[in-house]
Amino acid sequence: MSAPMLQVRDLQVAYGHIEAVQGISFEVRAGEIRTLVGANGAGKSTTLLALSGLLRPKAGSIRFEGEELTKLAPHQIVERGLVQVAEGRAILTTLTVRENLELGAYRRKDRAAIADDLARVLALFPRLEERIDGLAGNLSGGEQQMLAIGRALLAKPRLLLLDEPSMGLAPIIVQDIFRKLREINAQGLTIFLVEQNVRQALKIARHGYVIENGRIVLEGSGRELLHDPKVTAAYLGG
Ligand SMILES: Nc1ncnc2c1ncn2[C@@H]1O[C@H](COP(=O)(O)OP(=O)(O)OP(=O)(O)O)[C@@H](O)[C@H]1O
Ligand SMILES: [Mg+2]
Repeated sequence: MSAPMLQVRDLQVAYGHIEAVQGISFEVRAGEIRTLVGANGAGKSTTLLALSGLLRPKAGSIRFEGEELTKLAPHQIVERGLVQVAEGRAILTTLTVRENLELGAYRRKDRAAIADDLARVLALFPRLEERIDGLAGNLSGGEQQMLAIGRALLAKPRLLLLDEPSMGLAPIIVQDIFRKLREINAQGLTIFLVEQNVRQALKIARHGYVIENGRIVLEGSGRELLHDPKVTAAYLGG
């Protein structure tokens, strides 16, 4: 098998004395959807913030396509193709949908390719095209999540990181979003998804990890974990 695209070893991240992530190891392989699932406060966002360079790990290594990321600045990490859709979406509500999408491409200079990528995002999310000149603040929660994903796609990711895209959305909308993630993955983009919605995340992931109190306690294929009695009891309502 080829080397993993992303390889994380013994990652530790702390907020002062709070040891939020206590030595976790995991990887992501090119072409797949992989997930890290866990409850409120387990350390999921902390892990993603460390991958993006927004938090400095206390120890451990993060290798992306063979290169160590832990010493790089956030913008350098984005340039390498690791792009995060933040928790809570972080849409600029007083800008239009188009302006929000263009922000995703602000570091790029390849105008023609940006136009192609914009067209691809709008084909993927027709609702965004319909509302392209409207204010982002007038979008529904699900549409705002789609906008956040679209904006990340315009940064030309090689690995897309998502922090709880299901947050605050009705189940039917969550299914919609996850169907889009599958579609984006089928087009060739590798995805690392962090979720509290354990069932939906394990359904679309080839492989998953369960994090509890800053440690990975279980891992397996998405299907294995969905049927694991410990996962069922703790996360899937018995
Ligand atoms: N800025 C911060 N300062 C201090 N402690 C923090 C900070 N952010 C998170 N924590 C703590 O670190 C731990 C992990 O938090 P984290 O946000 O990574 O969890 P999470 O798995 O993303 O949870 P959620 O599903 O609620 O988003 C928790 O105990 C949390 O209280
Ligand atoms: Mg979080």
